[in-house]
Amino acid sequence: MNRKHITRFDYLLILYFFTFLLSPSFAQKVTIPIATADHMFLLQTDNQNRLRTVYFGKPIENESEWESVSSLSKYDENNSGIYNNAYTPAGTWNLSDPAIQVKHADGNTSLELKYVSHKQEQLDGNVTLINILLKDPVYPFEVNLYYKVWKNENLVEQWVAIKHNESNPVLLQKYASANLFFSNKDFYLTSFQGEYLKEMQPIENKLEQGIKTIDSKLGTRAMLMQTPNFMISFGHPASETEGTVLLGQLAWSGSFKLDFEIDSNKNLRLITGINPFASEYSLAPNKTFTTPSLIYALSNNGVGEASRNLQDWARKYRVLDGQGERLTLLNNWEATYFDFNENKIVGLFKGAKDIGVDLFLLDDGWFGNKYPRNNDDAGLGDWQENKKKLPHGIGYLVKEAKKEGVKFGIWIEPEMVNPKSELYEKHLDWVIRQPQRPEIYYRNQMVLDLTNPEVQDFVFGIVDDLFVKNPELAFIKWDCNAVIFNAYSEYLHKQGIPQSNLYVDYVKGLYSVLERLRAKYPKVPMMLCSGGGGRADYEFLKYFTEFWPSDDTEPLERIFLQWNYSYFFPSITTDNHVTDWGKQPLKFRVDVASMGKLGFDIVTDHLSPKDRIFCKQAISNYQTFKNIVWHGNQYRLVDPYKNDIASIMYVTKDKSRAVVFNYLVNNRFNITATKRPVVFNGLDKNKKYSIKEINLYPDIPSTLEQNKVYSGDFLMKAGYNPDVNLKRTSVILEINEVK
Ligand code: GLA
Repeated sequence: MNRKHITRFDYLLILYFFTFLLSPSFAQKVTIPIATADHMFLLQTDNQNRLRTVYFGKPIENESEWESVSSLSKYDENNSGIYNNAYTPAGTWNLSDPAIQVKHADGNTSLELKYVSHKQEQLDGNVTLINILLKDPVYPFEVNLYYKVWKNENLVEQWVAIKHNESNPVLLQKYASANLFFSNKDFYLTSFQGEYLKEMQPIENKLEQGIKTIDSKLGTRAMLMQTPNFMISFGHPASETEGTVLLGQLAWSGSFKLDFEIDSNKNLRLITGINPFASEYSLAPNKTFTTPSLIYALSNNGVGEASRNLQDWARKYRVLDGQGERLTLLNNWEATYFDFNENKIVGLFKGAKDIGVDLFLLDDGWFGNKYPRNNDDAGLGDWQENKKKLPHGIGYLVKEAKKEGVKFGIWIEPEMVNPKSELYEKHLDWVIRQPQRPEIYYRNQMVLDLTNPEVQDFVFGIVDDLFVKNPELAFIKWDCNAVIFNAYSEYLHKQGIPQSNLYVDYVKGLYSVLERLRAKYPKVPMMLCSGGGGRADYEFLKYFTEFWPSDDTEPLERIFLQWNYSYFFPSITTDNHVTDWGKQPLKFRVDVASMGKLGFDIVTDHLSPKDRIFCKQAISNYQTFKNIVWHGNQYRLVDPYKNDIASIMYVTKDKSRAVVFNYLVNNRFNITATKRPVVFNGLDKNKKYSIKEINLYPDIPSTLEQNKVYSGDFLMKAGYNPDVNLKRTSVILEINEVK
């Protein structure tokens, strides 16, 4: 064709051809599966190369059909925006709540994230790590989305790494860990509210259009007031055995935010992460900011299965020594409070040995000289033995305990300081406080500034010093009884780092201390404690073997509390102590505390002769079934919120042994509890089992026919009546396979 003869039409044709060829809509869609055994998310690029969540449901087997999924949804996005972005940026096309919002080094506040590449690594037969790189086409700013998938446990851990190469720091104004999207008709959220002595109280709500926020702004801990644990039921509220459910937790030990948004199309957007409140994070060039993880277990068969998967995962992959042993103990806190001396403590060792526990735990009050720790308003921060109370030091106590045949453990609260302390006098600049304002205290104490490496060394040194001087020290109770008020760090100020880094760098500073401690002392069991409100999450539990769920040890309350914690945590991590709280008899208290890691906080000398016999017998029984409770499958059989009794069962993995705990939770006359059988779960229907009541109080025989044999089939269909009533308020059944 002669050039001269190219017509206008030809030009249009050529233009159209090149536009089409170069347009992103011509680009092949990329579909990335995030798949467990029974669930699948599909992420897919759109014609703008943005990544979207296009499917959540049962795994679609045929890979060639994955691409078609996105065309099934006909939402008009012109006016209402895109809701299903896999990590929604702010400042460009987005109209909804973002997952990430930044201010670039030049002050510009726009961000676009486009898919660049992804890789998938098979870590073993069960575990896959998927990594997706997104980049801003204009600024040198990138985000890496990580998905770690445990196929068999139907569990996903999701986090994000953010990096840039701009000329100066970028301000991260929001930086979520996860941005999930679910398309379904109805969603029910169970959140868990926390309060001192009332931790983990569940509240279930149907989610309606708008944003429901669960958050905390406490700085040092997550769980007082609200907790980062939640449950989503899809379609209708899930039960223990039915329904599709997600059990989730943001594994971050400071301020968090969970946003559940029902969008205008009635889909659920879930954005979770560190609370951006007062926490705009200044990120230096070429440094990586890694968010905490969102961890979630999924099930199509109810909450019970999701919990068992989460518990299995935690023991196998997450909790320090999750598949190991734990030490039973006697604690002196409620027995003595601050009022003790060397002789009194040594005198208690005998009692520990006598009832048969493994360890004696010396609680608060052992330190401080200029300001002795004789109550909670002085001494915190001065970690030297009080010479009056303990003239021969901790070493002497460790030795004396050993002579008596028990191990020795100790309480510390190393992140904190009382204004009445030598530490405060010497290192005011180490304390989080606003220098020009009156100080605000929580339990008469303040928080040390763990953003400061010197403070990190100090905290590391407290524990290190204890171990160096007392290599046989066998247990640490690490407490945390304050929150951050008057947030201000002298250290950050001196470094020229914005104060809004404080909340995040506090927690990261604490993790780095724990990292160092575990490098040097990998195995020593440590309890995570935070009397009011709890302190337990799966980032902390990388370093701790167990946690203290609440100061509330009233056994009736405790049944509910332990029930709620068990949705998220295996019983091996839950420290339950028998105390004098409540009106229930000793048997009831010991039985309840046995559903986890058993401990005592009583004066053993005050036990009546029969109580003493019972205690010893119960502890020796515990030794025989503790492994079923710690490592077995847990079934929440009868819900105390809806019934007159509570019933919880643990079964060994091979289904050969089980233990069932049953309690009366309603003391009204003529209740129906005793009239109905409890239907068991988790046994082998083809096996035969004997049932025997254990932990009987001296001279009170069981009303049950002992050692009668039943089939698993019968017990899981017709059930068994443990005969719980006003005279038998607590009944433990031991179930053994009969061959
Ligand atoms: C917190 C803990 C208690 C005890 C005291 C000591 O309240 O929860 O178990 O250790 O501190 O001060």
